[in-house]
Amino acid sequence: MITSKELREKWIKFYEERGHVNIGAVSLIGDGTTGVMFNVAGMQPLMPYLLGKKHPKGTRLCNVQGCVRTVDIDSVGDATHFTFFEMMGNWSLGDYFKKEKTKWSLELLTEVFGFDKDKICSTVFEGNESAPRDEETAELLKGLGIKPENIFYLDKSNNWWELEGTVGTPCGPDNEWFYPRHDNKCCPTCDVNCDCGRYVEIGNDVYMQYKKLEGGKYAELDNKNVDTGFGLDRLLLFLNGLTDGYKTDLFDGAVKYLEQVSGKSYDNDLKAQKAIRIIADHTRTAVMLIGDVNGITPSNTGAGYILRRLLRRAIRYCRDLEINSNEMTAVAKIFIEKVYDSAYPLLLEKEEYIVSEIEKEIKKFETALGAGMKEFDKCITGMERKNAFMSAKDPAYVPETTISGKQAFRLYDTFGFPLELTVELAEEKGLTVDTAGFDEAFKAHQELSKAQAAAAKGGLTERNEITARYHTATHIMLAGLRKMFGTGTEQKGSNINEERMRFDFNLDHKMTEEELKTLEAFVNKAIADEIEITCTELPYNKAVAEGAYGVFTATSEDQPVTVYTIGDVDKQICGGPHAKNTKELGTFKIMKEESSSSGVRRIKAVLK
Ligand code: ALA
Repeated sequence: MITSKELREKWIKFYEERGHVNIGAVSLIGDGTTGVMFNVAGMQPLMPYLLGKKHPKGTRLCNVQGCVRTVDIDSVGDATHFTFFEMMGNWSLGDYFKKEKTKWSLELLTEVFGFDKDKICSTVFEGNESAPRDEETAELLKGLGIKPENIFYLDKSNNWWELEGTVGTPCGPDNEWFYPRHDNKCCPTCDVNCDCGRYVEIGNDVYMQYKKLEGGKYAELDNKNVDTGFGLDRLLLFLNGLTDGYKTDLFDGAVKYLEQVSGKSYDNDLKAQKAIRIIADHTRTAVMLIGDVNGITPSNTGAGYILRRLLRRAIRYCRDLEINSNEMTAVAKIFIEKVYDSAYPLLLEKEEYIVSEIEKEIKKFETALGAGMKEFDKCITGMERKNAFMSAKDPAYVPETTISGKQAFRLYDTFGFPLELTVELAEEKGLTVDTAGFDEAFKAHQELSKAQAAAAKGGLTERNEITARYHTATHIMLAGLRKMFGTGTEQKGSNINEERMRFDFNLDHKMTEEELKTLEAFVNKAIADEIEITCTELPYNKAVAEGAYGVFTATSEDQPVTVYTIGDVDKQICGGPHAKNTKELGTFKIMKEESSSSGVRRIKAVLK
C-alpha cells in the first residue's frame, strides 16, 4: 500500500533530485485573468512563465497543485469522478525538452513506481496543419526501450493539450503514458484505443511550444517548455491495485465514518454507495474552497454559487443516506485533520471557520429543503393526477413529463433549490425540467425587481446623489479588500444611508490598525486620482472574462449584465447608481471595524 503522503513526497523528491524547485501550490480560486473560476490544471498559475516571463524560482519547477473541476459534477457518484483532485506537475521553462523528459518520466514509472517497461504504452501526436507528427518523441521512447508496438500516433483530440476556450494561452502536442490494469485482452485488437477500460492513462507530458491565437491558429513560442501532469488521485488508485477511487486513504476515513453513522454498507448497498460518494466528494471540495488562501463562502453568485450547489447537493444526499446533514461537519473534520493535515496545513488553521461555514449553509438549507421537497412532490402529484384524468378522457393524450420553468423557479426562489438539484430530482422520477422556461421566469423576476427598485427610488434627489457616492465608495473599498486579502473576499452585505456606509465582507480575522490605514489610503488614493466611472452592458461570460465580479447569479452564459468600471481599480457587475467621477466622493474615513457574524467583518465608514 502506498499512501497519498508518500506519493506526493516521491514525486517532489524525484524532481528535486533533477534540479527542480518545489514551488508549492497556489490558490484554487481563479484570479479572474483567465475567465476560469477555479484552478483547473497545474499549469494554469504558470501561464505567464510558459509564455516567456522569467520565473523567480528558475527554469525547472515542480509541485502538487489542487484543482477543482465542476463541469462533470453530475458524474460524481461513480467510482472515478471527483470535483477536487491533485495534479502532480513539473515544468521546464525553456530549459530541457523531449530528450530529458521522456527519460525521466520513464525512470519515474519504472524505477520509483515499479511499472514494467514492456507493458508501458505511450501515445504521441500524429501531426496536422498546425504542428508536425511527433516522430522525435517516438524515436526517443524507442531508444529508451519502449516496445515499438506499444507506441501509438493519435490525433489532436487525444494528443494535444490546451485550455479550452481561452486565447493567448500556451499549448502543444503531448505524450501520454498508459498502463494495463491486467494482462487479459478483451478482444484481439485490445490496445490503448480500446474502450474496455483495461488501459489507464497515468499521466502526460505536454510539449508546450505554441501559443493559441484567434481563429484556431497557433504561433510558435520562443521558448520550448515541458508541462507535465500526473493525477495524484488516479495514480494512487492504480499503484494500490484498486479500481474504486473512494477506497484510497484519501477517502477511506470519510467512507467508513458515513457507513458507521448510517448503519449502511458502502459495498453492498448501491443507493448508499452513491450517496456516500457524493457527500464525501462534495464535502471535501467545499472544505478546500472555504479553507483556501482566497477562501470563498456559499453565495448566490459565481464561484460562491458553485460552492453552494456542492453543499446543497450533499445535504440532499444525506437524506438518501438517512443521516443528519450535520454529519457533514464531522466528514469535513476527517479531511482537515486526518487526510490533508500535512499537505494543506492552512485547513487546520481555518478549521473552526470552515466547519462553521458548512454548518451555516446546512442550517440555511435544511428547513427549506424539507418544505421544498414537499412542494416538489406536489408538482409531481399534480402532474400525475392531470395525466391520469386526461388519459382517461382521451386515449391519445400524451402524458406530461416536464416540470415547468415557473415551478422550477419557485423551488429556486422560495426554497433555495439550485436548478440542477431540481433537474436531478426530476431525472430520478424519469422527468425533465423546462430549463429555458426557468431562465425566462428568472429574467422576468429580475426585471420586476429592477422596476420596483426604480419606482422606490423616484426622481434623482440630493439624497440619491449622496447614496450613489457611498455606493461607489463601497466598490473601491471592496477592490482594496480583495487586493489585500485575495479575490475570495466578497460582499456579504451592504447598507447605505445619507450619513454613512456599512459594509460586510468575509475575512477570518479582525483587521489590524495597519490594515485599516492601508485600506483607507487605497480608497483616498482612488478619489485623489479623479477616475471616471464608466458603465457598459455586455454578456455575462464576456464580463467575467474581462475580470468583472459581483453579487449576481447569471441564468445563462450570455445574459446581458451591467458592469461599472472604475479605471484600473474595480470592475463589478452591479445595478448602480454610481458617482460619475471618484473626485465627487470627498474624503473617505473608516469609523469602525467589527465582527458581523462568524467569518464576516463589518466596516462603517463616512465620506466627508
Ligand atoms: N496541463 C496538462 C494537464 O492538465 C499537464 O493534463
